[in-house]
Amino acid sequence: MKRYSRITGTGSFLPARRLTNADLVAELASQGIETSDEWIVERTGIRARHFAADGVFSSDLGLEAAKRALASAGRSAQDIDLIIVATSTPDMVFPSTACILQNKLGAHGGAAFDVQAVCSGFVYAMTIADAMIQTGAATRALVVGAEIFSRILDFKDRTTCVLFGDGAGAIVMEASDRPGILASDLHADGKYVDILCVPGHVSGGSVLGDPLLKMDGQAVFKLAVGVLESAARATLYKAGKTEADIDWLIPHQANIRIMQSTARRLKLSMDKVIVTVDQHGNTSAASIPLALDSAVRSGQIKEGQTLMLEGVGGGFTWGAVLLIL
Ligand code: UT7
Repeated sequence: MKRYSRITGTGSFLPARRLTNADLVAELASQGIETSDEWIVERTGIRARHFAADGVFSSDLGLEAAKRALASAGRSAQDIDLIIVATSTPDMVFPSTACILQNKLGAHGGAAFDVQAVCSGFVYAMTIADAMIQTGAATRALVVGAEIFSRILDFKDRTTCVLFGDGAGAIVMEASDRPGILASDLHADGKYVDILCVPGHVSGGSVLGDPLLKMDGQAVFKLAVGVLESAARATLYKAGKTEADIDWLIPHQANIRIMQSTARRLKLSMDKVIVTVDQHGNTSAASIPLALDSAVRSGQIKEGQTLMLEGVGGGFTWGAVLLIL
């Protein structure tokens, strides 16, 4: 009998401090940076984001999301033999945020590692967990996307600092004799390293280079729209499905205009697209599991439905996962 992996639980967590566009506009104005609610809403669809308090780390947000995912799967941390954390804002240079999270969960001995694929991190992590479960290398996995992008934002750069937020989402994936994950498709093209990056690094006890996020928004936008369509089509092809089989599209939550354009290209109505960018901003690797969990908990997404998850971001990286919930 073929061994599949299935999602058996979802969870998410947002830090308490919520900033509406009006709050952020006022804060930036006091630093001499001019922006407006109208610009942010019209260009991105973002209305609010959450920022973590000082002293809180990605593993802390991931821990709360993981506890909720485990509770919804009816599992305890001891049942998990694989933890993968997708993050570009790890707690430390090393060890991995996954090891730190494992310790906070009180679950010892299973495999734990981070995946660094920026905003595509969660679909990369899911694809790895799926492969490990299918081959028998793992049986029950916790896959987490956790980010504190507020720490790497340049609040003097209005073209980027209004876009991102903090948060975490998590899923439990388990071996099963029924699908589950149907197909996935991952890609990267390193020639685009410079269009979205945090170029600084640690050397000899100092940070060398700029440790804040840089983005050529228009270049990212143009690439994103094309690759989100091609990754969705490739994934459908691998699974022997068509656009008509998709009940819900859960794209990376970066910009409502990118989501609208992707939906148009895939001939999907926006009624089939889960949108949380308005409330969360862009939470990078956390955006897809945050959107998934909020739609599962609100009752929009139901068991048995077919979901297309899609990530795109720095690297340049992109990918998609098609699954039956
Ligand atoms: O998570 C990884 C994936 N990331 C993404 O998918 C992001 C992709 N890119 C985008 O979402 C969009 O390109 C942005 C939202 C970043 C920018 O939207 P845009 O429509 O491409 O705007 P733009 O960069 O062409 O800027 C238009 C104007 C400029 O003024 P001029 O040159 O026309 O006078 C900017 O200076 O808007 C100005 N502008 C702002 N104005 C008010 C840029 N940022 C702001 C701001 N407030 N915050």
